[in-house]
Amino acid sequence: MKVLVVGSGGREHALAWKLAQSPSVSGLFAAPGNAGTARLGENWSDLTPTATPKIVAKSRECGIDLVVIGPEAALAAGLADALREAGIAVFGPGRAGAKLESSKAFAKQFMRNHGVPTAKFRVVHDKKQAQRALGDWEGGVVIKADGLAAGKGVVVCASADEGREILDGWYGRQKVPGGGTSVVLEELLEGPEVSVMTVTDGVRCAELATACDYKRACDGDTGPNTGGMGAYSPTPDVMNDTLAARIREEILAPTLRGLRADGIDYRGCLYAGLMVTARGPMVLEFNARFGDPETQVVLPRMKSDLFELLYEIATSEVAAVDVEARPLQVGFSQQACVGVVLASDGYPVRSLPVANLPLPDPILKESVTAFWGGSTLHGDVVEASGGRVLTMSAIGDGHEQARERAYAACAAYGRILPSGTKLCCRSDIALRVVRARH
Ligand code: AMP
Ligand code: GLY
Repeated sequence: MKVLVVGSGGREHALAWKLAQSPSVSGLFAAPGNAGTARLGENWSDLTPTATPKIVAKSRECGIDLVVIGPEAALAAGLADALREAGIAVFGPGRAGAKLESSKAFAKQFMRNHGVPTAKFRVVHDKKQAQRALGDWEGGVVIKADGLAAGKGVVVCASADEGREILDGWYGRQKVPGGGTSVVLEELLEGPEVSVMTVTDGVRCAELATACDYKRACDGDTGPNTGGMGAYSPTPDVMNDTLAARIREEILAPTLRGLRADGIDYRGCLYAGLMVTARGPMVLEFNARFGDPETQVVLPRMKSDLFELLYEIATSEVAAVDVEARPLQVGFSQQACVGVVLASDGYPVRSLPVANLPLPDPILKESVTAFWGGSTLHGDVVEASGGRVLTMSAIGDGHEQARERAYAACAAYGRILPSGTKLCCRSDIALRVVRARH
């Protein structure tokens, strides 16, 4: 079978790496791909993820059997719909399902309609409405731009006054991030966060191992928000069986029922970013795709054949499927995985390209995999586009060993970098789960 992975980040490298391990996969392609996918198959490097007609045409021409879509922008642009119309099996929801991620206002209304626990909220469309909503606001407020804003659209404010300042800016000289006008104002919740990724055909659902990611740039969760500086899986410091059962019953089941009730054919990854509050687990956000860097720590633990799972989801006849007789199955190893992101100097304030990076092969042990972010391979050197350059993912018997191995790999890679080249990482990824165990 020939598989196309759409996207160019660490997540897509991890997806391609796991898909390539399937005995059913005979050809792997990526659009546009990166230095990692180039070594697993063929990159269609001139095709961006939202070049819908070109991706459809080339997939047809090359006889692609399954397309796996990574980035939200491609889903929101309707790539999955166009591929399905062309008769190509695709893992990833259409534009209607992707709205759970591409519009925060839509996601909040959806949760309210279908009884999915989430923070109380108001949606506003201009400065006047925003001021009125904040007039009698109690406690902290989280301000969320409605559209896709690549992690820059959420501001957590300790008070309504702080919120007012942000909104004055957004509705004043600056623009609302993402370019829309709608903004969600949300009650500030408290508690640990966990990422729950599931894969679903809209009727059946398989939960992947849970992960915790680190969104802030600096140690101790300080500094600006980033795409994600590292992650670990499993998450014993946050999860237990009782909580997992609550998440299943109170969040995942009503969400899937809601999608069906709204007539949305959802085939893909449904990612719930949760906060475990004193009132129980609540949804902070939905993503319509795999998380980055969560995917880089979940897939190394997966024992199942990823291709078979995703292909089954992409092609199942949901009306006829017997949920009890044919559940979606997925297994994970007991081992822990820790992923540490190496970013270009100054990220996320600036994302400068980094040239002449060596391949990490000489420093890698069997327990460690290096997943490339946006990059191109020239012979045996890599040019990274900047930002998140590599995720060093290490497996171990427990988080402590996995963590040591991941950081040892980061240090070893640092030693083979050309002089003058610097990559940065947080030093506290998975530290809290190691401490929680002692
Ligand atoms: P989101 O993109 O909606 O996941 O928000 C990004 C980050 O903002 C989350 O990972 C949380 O750390 C924080 N956040 C979002 N919503 C809330 C909320 N209602 N209460 C507290 N923190 C939040
Ligand atoms: N790691 C968070 C995300 O992928 O959105």
